[in-house]
Amino acid sequence: MTDQVKYRNEYLLVRSAAETNIGYLLHGAIEQHGHMRIADVGTGTGIWLRELAEALPENCQLDGFDLSDAMFPSQDELPRNIKFYHQNLLEPFPTELIGQYDVVNIRLMVVALSAGEWGPAVRNLMTLLKPGGCLQWIDCIAHECVIKGVPEGKQANHAFYFHDLFRRVLISLGKTPNIAALHGIFQDSGLEACEEDIITLDRPSAREELSLTVVDGINNCLTAALGLHELDQVESVDEIQQLREKALGDLHSTGCYYCYDAYVILGRKAGVTN
Ligand SMILES: C[S@@+](CC[C@H](N)C(=O)[O-])C[C@H]1O[C@@H](n2cnc3c(N)ncnc32)[C@H](O)[C@@H]1O
Repeated sequence: MTDQVKYRNEYLLVRSAAETNIGYLLHGAIEQHGHMRIADVGTGTGIWLRELAEALPENCQLDGFDLSDAMFPSQDELPRNIKFYHQNLLEPFPTELIGQYDVVNIRLMVVALSAGEWGPAVRNLMTLLKPGGCLQWIDCIAHECVIKGVPEGKQANHAFYFHDLFRRVLISLGKTPNIAALHGIFQDSGLEACEEDIITLDRPSAREELSLTVVDGINNCLTAALGLHELDQVESVDEIQQLREKALGDLHSTGCYYCYDAYVILGRKAGVTN
């Protein structure tokens, strides 16, 4: 059995609020109107939907889907137009939801899906769309994060090591999606007018917060992976904690920061929206 098959459908629990910071919730090419129905798949806490609810008229219907309901807020904390559903995005959606959505959004699945699952995921998400509806996928190249801002004469070996450990563990578990391939997957799946925005997350005012998010994301991911498997690369949660502290130490003492690219891929289902 290949690693890719062995670890299918297994999610490494990285549920910290990752800051994608791309500057918009809906891509500018998406036409908006006052009674849109929008799905957010892999919604987590529903943070994206809750931000969207503040920006759209309340006649819009906003539905969140997730494999786990552990992060769903209670319904009385939510605007009435947001609902949550328990759903694995790799399995067929309920018949009554097929073809119902103007927009399907999916954000930050990079460590959730194994390499061979991206195409099936796109094709399953497309079933939710009305003709003319848009699939928007926002993700980041977690494996290719770089460290910037190391002052001359100083080193940030612990910060480098912590990210490299994360990368090696993801590779060993078959979680090696090539986000750059998503645009092609959209096209091959029959989506039209496909677009790709690549945004380097390097805004000086957001660097510190983004770096902390990266460190916590790596920490959560490694801890979850260790809970599920024996890893060759790291032995205990204590070891992960120590590596985390050392990486944070480098960030603080040198002023260096983690930086990566966010990708937004957009495609439209053939046909005309009603
Ligand atoms: C990193 S979180 C992102 C949450 C949210 N989209 C955001 O941007 O804050 C990934 C989410 O995807 C969910 N997830 C992972 N695999 C999934 C699957 N196969 N089907 C549905 N949800 C899944 C996880 O439970 C988690 O809530």
